[in-house]
Amino acid sequence: MRNPTLDDNPLLRTRTCEPLKTMPDPSASLSARQLGREQLQQACGAIDFWWHSIDLGQGVVTPGKKTAAWLDRELDALSLPPLAGKTVLDIGAWDGFYSFAAERLGARRVVALDHYVWSIDRSLADAYHARYARAPMMAPPIEQTPCWQPDKKPGKRGFDTARAALGSRVESVYGDFMTLDPAQIGTFDVVLFLGVLYHMENPMASLRRLAEFTKGVAIIETHAVAVPAFEHRALCEFYPHGELDGDVSNWWGPNLKALEAMCLAAGFSRVEIRQGPPHRSWIHHALRRLHLFLSGSRARRPRHYRAIVHAWK
Ligand SMILES: C[S@@+](CC[C@H](N)C(=O)[O-])C[C@H]1O[C@@H](n2cnc3c(N)ncnc32)[C@H](O)[C@@H]1O
Repeated sequence: MRNPTLDDNPLLRTRTCEPLKTMPDPSASLSARQLGREQLQQACGAIDFWWHSIDLGQGVVTPGKKTAAWLDRELDALSLPPLAGKTVLDIGAWDGFYSFAAERLGARRVVALDHYVWSIDRSLADAYHARYARAPMMAPPIEQTPCWQPDKKPGKRGFDTARAALGSRVESVYGDFMTLDPAQIGTFDVVLFLGVLYHMENPMASLRRLAEFTKGVAIIETHAVAVPAFEHRALCEFYPHGELDGDVSNWWGPNLKALEAMCLAAGFSRVEIRQGPPHRSWIHHALRRLHLFLSGSRARRPRHYRAIVHAWK
């Protein structure tokens, strides 16, 4: 079977590569509205990998690795502030679920920013991760491999398809937020920084950059680590060889104390913790102690979880 091409996707047939800043494309929404359910299903099926499950209407939901139930729970846990009339930047938007959600919640302007997965050919990237995860040698930067196809932007087709199907006015910006000049896109009332921090080689510098784009509040959702007995020390765990989920683009896991302290050091004035380590019952603790005692082990392993904080300027 041949790989699907842009021509297979009825929603993308007329689309071209975008310049740095794009404005809403009314022709895309018009063509989406003209599509029947079958064509919408075909457009959705022409994308070989979806990260987000997005309801495109007419009963068609994209088959995202993050299921609809997962995204519902996540959206709820973010405790977003009221977005009506606000400007929102979604850094690391991928297929755009959170950008479209912000638009639905009444945001005045929404910018979906990404470059990393949008540049990647997923079918080649899987082999790249499989080869280097937990291997003794360091993975070469993906930008130096055939996976990296910034001219074609194969990983952006899901976003473009969903945007067209929804008739969305979300703007897309292709760019690395670490090097993009905030003067080019502006600063935002609310900045979503979801699932991005642990991909950053330099988390402090990335939080400083995040603060530069933020006028009001940054919503930070991240992989995090809880190290028993070290809750009051600011610690980060380093993953040099894809130890986290076999993904060599995952570098760091902060504990809550480090996350909070880094946000303050990066220029935010106040940090609210919205999701810390999951609570464990006394029965769990008692069983764990019994296990450590019986096994003769004194090691108390770090726990991994997802943290959410609101960092205010
Ligand atoms: C784990 S995904 C999270 C996607 C989405 N925010 C979510 O929570 O479902 C990480 C995203 O960050 C993006 N990303 C990584 N580094 C980036 C950078 N320097 N500038 C912009 N986006 C970046 C990736 O391309 C990817 O879309």
